[in-house]
Amino acid sequence: METASSSGLEGVNAANTAISHVDGEQGRLVIAGYDAEQLAQVATFEEATRRVLEAGRGASVDVTPAQLAQARIRAWELLPRLGDALDAADGMDALRAGLAHLRATSAGGSGYDDLADAITAIGAAPVFAAAWSRKQRGLVPVGPSVELDHASDYLRMTTGAAPSPAAAKALGAYLVTVSDHGMNASTFTARVVASTASDLISAVVAGVGALKGPLHGGAPGPVLDMLDAIGTPANAETWLLGELAAGRRIMGMGHRIYRVRDPRAAVLEVAVKPLSTPNLDLAHAVEAAAAKILRERKPDRPLAANVEFYTAVLLDAVGLPRGQFAPTFAVGRVAGWCAHVLEQRRVGKLIRPASTYVGPMPA
Ligand code: COA
Repeated sequence: METASSSGLEGVNAANTAISHVDGEQGRLVIAGYDAEQLAQVATFEEATRRVLEAGRGASVDVTPAQLAQARIRAWELLPRLGDALDAADGMDALRAGLAHLRATSAGGSGYDDLADAITAIGAAPVFAAAWSRKQRGLVPVGPSVELDHASDYLRMTTGAAPSPAAAKALGAYLVTVSDHGMNASTFTARVVASTASDLISAVVAGVGALKGPLHGGAPGPVLDMLDAIGTPANAETWLLGELAAGRRIMGMGHRIYRVRDPRAAVLEVAVKPLSTPNLDLAHAVEAAAAKILRERKPDRPLAANVEFYTAVLLDAVGLPRGQFAPTFAVGRVAGWCAHVLEQRRVGKLIRPASTYVGPMPA
């Protein structure tokens, strides 16, 4: 395994990364040297994947659309051997169980072939997520196609029909936008696992577990529930006040790092526009009402729309069922997790935060 001293990352700790940069004050996200807005417009998910993997490895990598398509095929061939993994009621449980069936390479004692494992994991995620979704709806899973790009194939495997170019483009922009985001909870989880010199598949499975929670990746489904419950802009304020009075948070609002609107919200708004969904106007109205109420309630704590707000609108507009929203986040973020595993390998140090003991001492 390459070590920090041989990689040029001497003294680097887990908080230093060349993969993405989150500026919470300015509301800026840079992924592998590109503003997220720019990357989402010019790059396919396959290209973004290569760029983040290269940023993680610190060298060029050979990851092609054809390799990812082959990985989708291999995952599809594994489907009959997944037992009841894809029968779980929750899509993230199913994805975690499905990905756990993947086997990491073992390069004969010299460590793992992380790049090969990354391609396997990135290719498998959409296949398992789409197959789970179809099984949930009582439909027969649809196999991947080597003819299609990753985003189009994911949509086709989900709906059973070739997607419109506009829907495929919007989903591609979404997958690129969420491919990496600094040291978020699931990425940190994946890095901790990699830092023990465990394999990439284990890191990805752990990442899925961390992403599942509604404080991280599980919010877009509830955002769509919220938009449905509100129904029309006129109801927004009353409904939102009721939520807060009941002690609940407004889903899709607030962020640990951003003190302004999450820049990814704007990228997704632009991406979803060509699909002319009526939910976009409603989402704008609900966001404005929520921002106003939260500003009044918490003047010292800026709480603006986060990525999940417009994720809900976009993923609904491209035809994905809401139970599949969190797994779809994982389909994009798995690229970032893998890039961070590559980067953590170069750091080559165990991540081991200290704890402060506050319990009783022996008498
Ligand atoms: N609705 C209502 N109040 C909110 C809120 C929301 N969406 N987000 C934060 N707050 C309030 C909290 O209640 C807390 O108030 P208090 O100090 O009176 O207890 C204060 O703002 C700070 O919240 P805290 O949980 O400490 O901030 P955080 O940085 O840990 O939270 C999130 C970040 C994302 C977990 C949080 O904003 C949240 O729960 N959002 C809703 C879920 C969501 O959209 N998740 C997707 C994230 S990308």
